[in-house]
Amino acid sequence: MLGQGVVKFLCLLVTFFGGVTSLRDVMLLVQPTTVIRGGTAALVCSRDMQGAPLYSVKWYRGNHEFYRYTPMEEPDTRVFGLPGIYVDMNRSNGTQVLLRRLDLTLAGNFSCEVTADSPSFATQVATKFIDVIALPPTAPVLKADKDRYQPGEVLRANCTSSPARPAANLTIYVNEEPIRSSETSLHPSESGLLWTLVKADLKVTPDLFVGGRLRVACIATVYDVYRSSANLDFFTPDTDPRPERITLNGASKCFQSWILVLLLFLLPVVMGQDIYTFLDYDDYDEKYIPAAIASLVGG
Ligand SMILES: *[C@@H]1O[C@H](CO)[C@@H](O)[C@H](O)[C@H]1NC(C)=O
Ligand SMILES: *[C@@H]1O[C@H](CO)[C@@H](O)[C@H](O)[C@H]1NC(C)=O
Ligand SMILES: *[C@@H]1O[C@H](CO)[C@@H](O)[C@H](O)[C@H]1NC(C)=O
Ligand SMILES: *[C@@H]1O[C@H](CO)[C@@H](O)[C@H](O)[C@H]1NC(C)=O
Ligand SMILES: *[C@@H]1O[C@H](CO)[C@@H](O)[C@H](O)[C@H]1NC(C)=O
Repeated sequence: MLGQGVVKFLCLLVTFFGGVTSLRDVMLLVQPTTVIRGGTAALVCSRDMQGAPLYSVKWYRGNHEFYRYTPMEEPDTRVFGLPGIYVDMNRSNGTQVLLRRLDLTLAGNFSCEVTADSPSFATQVATKFIDVIALPPTAPVLKADKDRYQPGEVLRANCTSSPARPAANLTIYVNEEPIRSSETSLHPSESGLLWTLVKADLKVTPDLFVGGRLRVACIATVYDVYRSSANLDFFTPDTDPRPERITLNGASKCFQSWILVLLLFLLPVVMGQDIYTFLDYDDYDEKYIPAAIASLVGG
């Protein structure tokens, strides 16, 4: 009795799985699964036919078939017009499809459906989500409400990303440490993308000027495919006024620095009251010049 039961059970197993053993392990591999707008994705549909002949491989975006491979027909490949889908026929066959110029609207589920030939006509489908993203075209823009701060003052900064999809994540850092933002908001752009705004407030204390410099940075990221940053440097007011203007602004400022150094050596010789009026300091208030000279010598 028990033996008969086991035999029946085994028969059932064989009957049940018999049809399926002609086709198994249909898998869809996508490279990459996150595509930058305008980019390319390779879709590979692997399967184990168990020696059974292949009848067809059909490719879908959502419910819409866009490509079919039927080895027993002539021609063996067909493309069905689907807006925005560009199948590179030279790189597509019974196993893989290469999609080019992917647009944002194509983000979604892609499937391959494998069907074995008679007698079983067994069919299996595999699906993968393909994300299409638009990266911010330019770096984030970081602004603070003032050029310089005294300890005790509150630094108010805001940072905006350029439009993207999904919206870029923005993080404000003070001296390499992320700080909590007081406000984060998303805004639609004309092109149907989203830009991000974050604001942060910071109570300025003397210890924030590490080596005389307080650095505020804003870093925009999109997953791990995009990273861009903007920096603002602030200096302790009494020791080092606006040296960022001296070091960052190219050759003419460099030349002015040399004049400063030169002047420094001439200073005891000239001793004129109006010495600073010789100079054309568009960016400098006169009162900063002695301190700038001091910083060049001292530093
Ligand atoms: C496919 O190859 C042919 C011949 O090499 C070429 O003319 C055609 O532009 C190619 N098509 C695509 C989509 O790359
Ligand atoms: C399909 O094309 C890819 C690359 O173009 C190639 O590596 C692969 O062998 C081809 N497969 C078949 C079944 O022709
Ligand atoms: C893609 O498929 C998954 C699982 O089948 C489903 O949860 C999701 O809603 C689908 N996404 C889209 C955009 O159709
Ligand atoms: C960002 O900060 C700047 C400087 O404080 C200010 O002029 C601007 O209005 C702020 N923008 C937003 C959107 O808050
Ligand atoms: C933004 O950050 C959140 C939380 O870390 C993360 O889940 C999300 O994927 C990020 N979005 C982007 C576009 O990077």
